[in-house]
Amino acid sequence: MRKAKILTTGMYVPEHVVTNDLLAQAMDTSDEWITQRTGIKERRVVPDTYKMLQQLAQAPDKEAYLEHVYAHGIDGNINAEMSTADLALAATQMALKQANMTPQDLDLIIQTSVVPDYVFPGVACVLADKLGITSTPTFSLNQGCAGFVYALSMADQYIKTGTYNTILVVGAELLSAIFQFSNRGRDMSVLFADGAGAAILVPAAEDEPSGLLSHHLHTDGTLLAKLYAELFGTTTFPPMVKQKVDDDRARPRMEGRAVFAQAVRRFREVIRECLDANKVSIDEVDHFLFHQANVRILDSIADSLNIPASKIPVNIHKYGNTSAASVPILLHETLQEGRIQRGDLCLLAAFGTGFNWGASLLRW
Ligand code: ACO
Repeated sequence: MRKAKILTTGMYVPEHVVTNDLLAQAMDTSDEWITQRTGIKERRVVPDTYKMLQQLAQAPDKEAYLEHVYAHGIDGNINAEMSTADLALAATQMALKQANMTPQDLDLIIQTSVVPDYVFPGVACVLADKLGITSTPTFSLNQGCAGFVYALSMADQYIKTGTYNTILVVGAELLSAIFQFSNRGRDMSVLFADGAGAAILVPAAEDEPSGLLSHHLHTDGTLLAKLYAELFGTTTFPPMVKQKVDDDRARPRMEGRAVFAQAVRRFREVIRECLDANKVSIDEVDHFLFHQANVRILDSIADSLNIPASKIPVNIHKYGNTSAASVPILLHETLQEGRIQRGDLCLLAAFGTGFNWGASLLRW
């Protein structure tokens, strides 16, 4: 059977940097609290969030300022400067350029995001429009932070069976727009940020050792109340009702400690499952590319499985938690740094809302 390999990668993060200190001017938090609990020092956000945060930091009455923004937008403008698909497009263009390909060379697009441009059609359709392609099939997934691993596993199946040859997988997240930068929303708004990561997959040559080896995916929907967002969903009637905002139900919710405990447990389980399925030991894996949610989650996994820190690249201090974009951004940066050599064994793993989690093993 054919094997799929990642040919090129790409990433995009907006230019606007939000430091912990800027957040501390907007609400009751501190660089010390955020750094100690998460390892995050700064994150990138879209221009609208950045503008709002700067105005919020200066506002004498912060609650009144935010109320005004939720009622009238920023400076009376409610049109976003950048959308999820714009982030996806920038990462895609980088991956295409590296592959010396045009959008017309793609046989399939699998995109994954938490917050779409529109309720319908999916972000992948908006991306296809921006890429100027008119009949290439697309999927839009919403698998939270595990989205990239899910998307990668799907792409692998299509290449293995010979259905498609050139597949774009892209995780793009515009999360800063949905969290509330207030004392009520501070538990989540300090964690999440914006960005996108992409990979182009093609069949590996028959004699080539490179390729995707296996995928291990899981969902536990019974715990969805630990991390969810109602926003414009159909849990209310009508979905977009002013009462939802007045009752503070439009804001995402998280039980941080429960998420932390589940993340560590499920990461450990799925890493073991992936290693056992491939009869590979931890020592034989060269790089563990984990979803960047929290440096303490990474430390716990490393401690309990005895993985040396040198094998776990970390970039959460720069970007925060970019959900489905985090694994492909990390993969891209680790490749750019020259840390991954041809023939290296890489284990990708992620956990997030749903809960959804998964791992993929690949030889570079
Ligand atoms: N700044 C300052 N204080 C804060 C903030 C903030 N941003 N957020 C919460 N606090 C306060 C709380 O109100 C609480 O105050 P209280 O003691 O007066 O009630 C205090 O800090 C401690 O709150 P805890 O929730 O107990 O803090 P904890 O040590 O658990 O850390 C954190 C919170 C960082 C969210 C942690 O639980 C965590 O990392 N959980 C995992 C969450 C995660 O990674 N989610 C990402 C999505 S899923 C994924 O990607 C894996």
